Amino acid sequence: MKIALGTDHAGIGLKKDVIAVIQKLGHEVVDVGCNCSDSVDYPDYALPVCEQVVAGTADRGILICGTGIGMSIAANKVPGIRCALVHDVFSAKATREHNDTNVLAMGERVIGPGLAEEIVKEWLSTAFSGGERHVNRVNKVMAIEDKYRQV
Ligand code: RB5
Repeated sequence: MKIALGTDHAGIGLKKDVIAVIQKLGHEVVDVGCNCSDSVDYPDYALPVCEQVVAGTADRGILICGTGIGMSIAANKVPGIRCALVHDVFSAKATREHNDTNVLAMGERVIGPGLAEEIVKEWLSTAFSGGERHVNRVNKVMAIEDKYRQV
């Protein structure tokens, strides 16, 4: 798969570990930045990652900021994105199986590289369960976007 990756300045420390684990699993990384330690704004990196996922130029997206919260809030504003903020391996698996999430957010100030790598591994390798009840629930979530879409 092609994985779009975006971080702000507070997520840059985890970036090399996350890139390494993505590549070790045989996936390709598209790094949208940031690539400096100057203070930047997380929506500026969440948006290009999510746009690539929605456009289909990337299969999935991974976002890292200090807490993961800002990135996940911004990502979930983009129609078509289902982003989960995950800091444990159980949730990484469950959110793929139940929510069919296409973007993963993590916080570098919350978890260390070892756990982040396990989360990425689990999230990238778990398929959506596709069961009727989960499909129905995901469709209901996406219908909320349709209800409020203004364009
Ligand atoms: C940056 O200081 C920090 O606010 C940001 O990385 C993120 O945690 C926001 O949700």
